[in-house]
Amino acid sequence: MKRPGENNMDNEIKIDSLYKIYSGHVDTVAIENFSQTFEKGEIIALSGPSGSGKSTILNCIGGVLRPTSGDIFVGNKNIAKVSDNDLVLYRRDHVGLIYQDFNLINEFNIFENIALPMLIAKKSKNEIDERVHELLTILGIERYEKSFPPYISGGERQRVAIAVALANNPQIILADEPTGNLDKKNSDNVINLLINQTRQLQKTLIIATHDEFILDQVDRIVKISN
Ligand SMILES: Nc1ncnc2c1ncn2[C@@H]1O[C@H](COP(=O)(O)OP(=O)(O)O)[C@@H](O)[C@H]1O
Ligand SMILES: [Mg+2]
Repeated sequence: MKRPGENNMDNEIKIDSLYKIYSGHVDTVAIENFSQTFEKGEIIALSGPSGSGKSTILNCIGGVLRPTSGDIFVGNKNIAKVSDNDLVLYRRDHVGLIYQDFNLINEFNIFENIALPMLIAKKSKNEIDERVHELLTILGIERYEKSFPPYISGGERQRVAIAVALANNPQIILADEPTGNLDKKNSDNVINLLINQTRQLQKTLIIATHDEFILDQVDRIVKISN
């Protein structure tokens, strides 16, 4: 049981004065002084022109990238400042990432792709088996269990990617232009599934997108400008 003041990861995401500067031949200021609070269970779209920093913000929240400065409190843990080890655990246990190009492993079948994050989290074989089948059913892709990613459609691949993201039951789901590679019909279906699931389970969902269908369904749109 959690006591008050204990590390409560089920809480809001509070971003304060975030900067990310990519240094190289020339320095690129990708995020400049971004502050925002996302409530637990909120469904948010990040919208803004290409290059405005949407992916960079998602990657900082997901613990994939370290910001140059600023704070990202998830519950009472500042993931901008935690140790590398804690960041790995945070990513593994609290974050699900969904990308435009699905990011599946082509040499693994669909069952194995969904099982992988649970194997990494050292779940038992029984638990993994049960959870993979539950996710296959929820996402309507049971019949592809033994298929390999190159042999199923884009819409089906994105459903698998959602199952991978939900596998360890993370509180935070981050989706980076998840419908960018899908036709309208597939994209609307996949988004309905994703939004219904996250709403039902009261997860926090942040989607970087220009997709009008998504913008119509979220609780709030956060506009990023450069
Ligand atoms: N790895 C990187 N190295 C250098 N510059 C980058 C890198 N990733 C993104 N950028 C730059 O940072 C800015 C924001 O990029 P990004 O977060 O991808 O925006 P968006 O997702 O809104 O298109 C852009 O100017 C982009 O060129
Ligand atoms: Mg992007």
